[in-house]
Amino acid sequence: MASVTSLTASVHQRLADALSAALPEAGSADPLLRRSDRADFQANGILALAKKAKANPRELATQVVAQVASGDVIKDIEVSGPGFLNITITDKAITENLAARYADADRLGVPFAEHPGTTVIDYAQPNVAKEMHVGHLRSAVIGDAVVQILEFVGESVVRRHHIGDWGTQFGMLIQYLIEHPHELDHKGGEVSGEEAMSNLNRLYKAARVHFDSDEEFKTRARRRVVDLQAGDPETLALWQVFVDESKIYFYSVFDKLDMQIRDADVVGESGYNDMLDETCRLLEESGVAVRSDGALCVFFDDVKGPDGNPVPLIVKKSDGGYGYAATDLSAIRDRVFNLKASTLLYVVDARQSLHFKMVFETARRAGWLNDDVKAHQLAFGTVLGKDGKPFKTREGETVRLVDLLDEAIERATTVVREKAEKVGLSEQEIVENGRYVGIGAVKYADLSTSAVRDYKFDLDQMVSLNGDTSVYLQYAYARIKSILRKAGEARPLAHPELELAPAERELGLHLDRFAETIAEVAAEYAPHKLAAYLYQLASLLTSFYDKCQVLSDDNPTEVVENRLFLVDLTARTLHQGMALLGIRTPERL
Ligand code: ARG
Repeated sequence: MASVTSLTASVHQRLADALSAALPEAGSADPLLRRSDRADFQANGILALAKKAKANPRELATQVVAQVASGDVIKDIEVSGPGFLNITITDKAITENLAARYADADRLGVPFAEHPGTTVIDYAQPNVAKEMHVGHLRSAVIGDAVVQILEFVGESVVRRHHIGDWGTQFGMLIQYLIEHPHELDHKGGEVSGEEAMSNLNRLYKAARVHFDSDEEFKTRARRRVVDLQAGDPETLALWQVFVDESKIYFYSVFDKLDMQIRDADVVGESGYNDMLDETCRLLEESGVAVRSDGALCVFFDDVKGPDGNPVPLIVKKSDGGYGYAATDLSAIRDRVFNLKASTLLYVVDARQSLHFKMVFETARRAGWLNDDVKAHQLAFGTVLGKDGKPFKTREGETVRLVDLLDEAIERATTVVREKAEKVGLSEQEIVENGRYVGIGAVKYADLSTSAVRDYKFDLDQMVSLNGDTSVYLQYAYARIKSILRKAGEARPLAHPELELAPAERELGLHLDRFAETIAEVAAEYAPHKLAAYLYQLASLLTSFYDKCQVLSDDNPTEVVENRLFLVDLTARTLHQGMALLGIRTPERL
């Protein structure tokens, strides 16, 4: 189906044409169209243009009005104040526009981006043999939403889960496993994600105790790191055991999050080992990196420590070891030259911003990034507890992600159960909806604030039925579905000849803005703007119900059909928008 021209775009076009007819020297000037409380739109651009052309703004505005053909789309246009234009749309244009969106069932008239590219997005990157925490939740939730949104506008998206699967700690773990060979055996066949993690935790703690108290073990563990880096097959095979065990756990958490992570997209730090040497050689030969105290470093004028001395990015340590930066620089080369990315996106904690700033600048100096290939860190803030401090358990430990998710599901299930009888839900539906509502609540709370801000993890607020929560949106959706089921013979059908009530117009004009919202959200990587749009949509729907009955015997058939059509389009828009945020909309709730 073809994409639908929005009312905003049509009005914009008509005004721009009228403007250039009234003031040819203005060329293609922007009438600066806004939604307005006084009329449907207000255009504010004439004042500045009149000033530039040394004309009287009200006179110019009057000339523009004379040039605008009113009729099919514009019902009314008038000059107000010092030279604003107030514009009212015809009801017919609103209904016809929405009918065109409704007919395009898959995309609701949302166009594809004009110049799509290839984005490689780095998100959902937990660390092997370690518990996932709320920071990993944010990266996964935000990253997954951005993937869906970008794909929806036609971008080619390559996902990369840059898991922490390499480093000196593996020497200790592998050595311990060699000396205690049955610690990770799966006795009863398959293990659950939880079991896998608890096995890893137990092993990690025991290995740590040995490492800290037994000098000889420490020496053996260090030697094991060298074996690992040298690619000794036995050592690598055991390293793989840790990776596989961890993946069982990761996948169980992603599954709980109702998120699809594909194995082929998991390319951890270890995946770039073969490139590290060459990355360093290229940086050194080009002079981007220099030797300093035996280490290979990149310096920046504006990165200094508290003592005023420059703090370099270390790409190779003086002992010859590679760190996090060498891996990220190699990953950039891979993503740019092998995956042919035009954009590199990193959904990573704001506390790593200095690292990425230095890594990107280094890659720019090396010529790997340039005007055609851009890198951007979609930095996110910290998750705080109710007390406003970084989220910790009472014992001061980081909160286990799984515990949080389970609690959210439990609370949501209680909320769902309370209403279940009225709706006639089966036990199975209660359990399923409890998951969708609980996980949706966690995702929505994360996505509805701008990513870079910190936010409070407050489950009571998250599962509240009133306010800016996913549950509110899910209920709005389910309520429409219930009306559609009760409609009997009546079918949703647009009637452009009908006059619309103010609440219908408001809802309609907002529905028309879906495509523009999506374009903005995709361009700015700003899912919170989509959440805000959807929340407003649900709020307008609530006002519409207050003022307009849908299934009333007093309504003529056309009014019933037109209202069913309006709410059905609202439901589809809610469903599509929520799906882009990774949130389900149950049919009955
Ligand atoms: N594993 C890292 C962590 O848990 C995040 C990795 C971010 N991605 C990257 N390319 N460095 O903090």
